[in-house]
Amino acid sequence: MRFSPNLLDEILRRTDLVQLVGRRVKLIRKGRVMWGCCPFHKEKSPSFKVENERRTYHCFGCGAGGDAFKWLSETEGLTFPEAVERLAGEAGVELPKWTPEDEAREERKKSLYEIIEAACAFFEEQLRGRSGEDGRNYLKSRGLDDAAAKQFRLGYAPSHDALKEHLTKKNIALDDMVAAGLVRPQDGERSPRDFFFNRLMFPITDPRGRVIAFGGRALDPDAKPKYINTGETALFSKGRLLYNFATARPAAIKSGTIILAEGYMDVIALVRAGFDHAVAPLGTALTEEQLHLLWRTAAEPILAFDGDEAGLRAAQRAARLALPHLKPGYSLRFAFLPPGDDPDSLIRGGGPAAMKTFLDAAEPLAKVLWRVETEGKDFSTPERRAGLERALAEVVSAISDPKIADYYRRDFDQQVFERFKRRAPPARPERREYGTREPRRVPFPIRPLETVSPAVKNSLLARAGNSGARRRKETELAELLLEWPQIAVAHGEELAALPLSDRSLDRLRHELLNLAASGSRLEKPALENHLIRAGLGELLDRLGRRPPEGRGENAGGGPTEAVRGSAEVDMEARWLLAAAQLHELVEAVPERRRAMERFNSEASEESWREAHRLLQPRVLPNE
Ligand code: UTP
Ligand code: MN
Repeated sequence: MRFSPNLLDEILRRTDLVQLVGRRVKLIRKGRVMWGCCPFHKEKSPSFKVENERRTYHCFGCGAGGDAFKWLSETEGLTFPEAVERLAGEAGVELPKWTPEDEAREERKKSLYEIIEAACAFFEEQLRGRSGEDGRNYLKSRGLDDAAAKQFRLGYAPSHDALKEHLTKKNIALDDMVAAGLVRPQDGERSPRDFFFNRLMFPITDPRGRVIAFGGRALDPDAKPKYINTGETALFSKGRLLYNFATARPAAIKSGTIILAEGYMDVIALVRAGFDHAVAPLGTALTEEQLHLLWRTAAEPILAFDGDEAGLRAAQRAARLALPHLKPGYSLRFAFLPPGDDPDSLIRGGGPAAMKTFLDAAEPLAKVLWRVETEGKDFSTPERRAGLERALAEVVSAISDPKIADYYRRDFDQQVFERFKRRAPPARPERREYGTREPRRVPFPIRPLETVSPAVKNSLLARAGNSGARRRKETELAELLLEWPQIAVAHGEELAALPLSDRSLDRLRHELLNLAASGSRLEKPALENHLIRAGLGELLDRLGRRPPEGRGENAGGGPTEAVRGSAEVDMEARWLLAAAQLHELVEAVPERRRAMERFNSEASEESWREAHRLLQPRVLPNE
């Protein structure tokens, strides 16, 4: 049923949002606005506000925000209609009457729920009864006792048509059994037969906990297929639900995380081992709808996979699926179990502690995507490296959120750079003379706060916003490009991505990229003539048309034949290093400045450590 905007508005107007939020968050009044500590991220000082007048809440820290419906969906995992129903009830707003068609459909569904519930009770009874011995033995062999069977309402479907006969005795029409997916029509005149027989039964519930379908496992280890599931019915759509979601939801919201396993048995083993927040898809690969269900309960669901190659492939599929749906703050993590293990076998072998070890070691989505593209691959040729960059660019382009895409791009660039840098400069004796100086990593020692003088504080602050360093780094990059224009061909993407603040350097880049793209031979004298014609003569003068410093006594002349090979590599490596340093300078500055401001206003040990951490250079510009 659709709700009219007027109705929704009416419900929101009659809802006391402050009171609703106040049930979970301690709020303090400041003027017309109530403030509290945001329940969506960890914080010590309140940046979460609730305004009854605007009927919204908003967190300045993490950006969470919305109206009362959103609140219930975020904090209790309710679907939108569920939230509407709940708030309408609390506010005394009557929901519109159903149309006769709605009514009929709803009646039909109601009777389907009842039929399936009757079937579930029948299967449970069978498992306990005389015909259930095989089923009970099987459960025992898998380490599950009566309590587990009871908790998950496991059952046993005995011989053919036992269910049909049972339901017929209860005056249930055959048509309805078919509609519920319990019996299957046969060809021609033959009467429909039970869908499940001689199988261990796993009831599947909807998010409210009502049984709507079943999975059935063959007891015979050789039986094919091993599992069968209820087909699509009016109540059940397997791609939209998750096994155990109704019970896992509150546990997931409480613990802030949810575990996705592959099978029913895994979920049961997880829950029995104390991981109440475990769910599984229903016999298909993870779907987008299931992904959204997961994200409604936790910001970073953990997907558990077998550590073998098939597991990595399944993880890759899930990762790809998630890319277009990533939102700031929401991602996935991946727990890779030992090869050949699923959570069920891992827990049976090593107990909950073993499972916890692997959950704690879960890898972030970005890392898994990187591994998928690089693991076991050889990047010894330029073509393969370019292939890697293209594959990574494709991953980034699948991300819809521009901010996240941007971070992924930088992250991948950095990793490509680090990997490439390590293999780029060959270790030759002459390298010291003409080569890159190793980046100096100068950690400055952390001192206790009380010994930090105002002068040191000020110099740190200056360092936090060093624009001179940025200009120098940009100039260095440009000088290297003029000296060795082939860099524009070899590293066009990096060049395009440089955060240049100087407009004439930006124009230089533009010209270089155009030349590179047109396939022109990029050589120093021809390039200089071209740049002069393009009106960049002044820039050339400014850069001094001199080779960049660091080339020592050889300055002025080109590299001698003997060292040309290593000089090239060095140029490229130096340029890539300078590019990374520029990114580092530009990107770290606002973060550092904020940390320093916080340190200046709070002067706490914690803010000092944070400022210190951020000011610790990762790659210190070698000037
Ligand atoms: P697995 O084959 O990994 O089995 O299927 P499992 O969960 O480890 O099962 P056990 O431990 O052998 O009992 C994982 C999930 O894939 C679906 C089921 O939902 C199962 O739980 N599946 C598997 C099917 O739907 N049909 C099949 O034939 C096999
Ligand atoms: Mn298994």
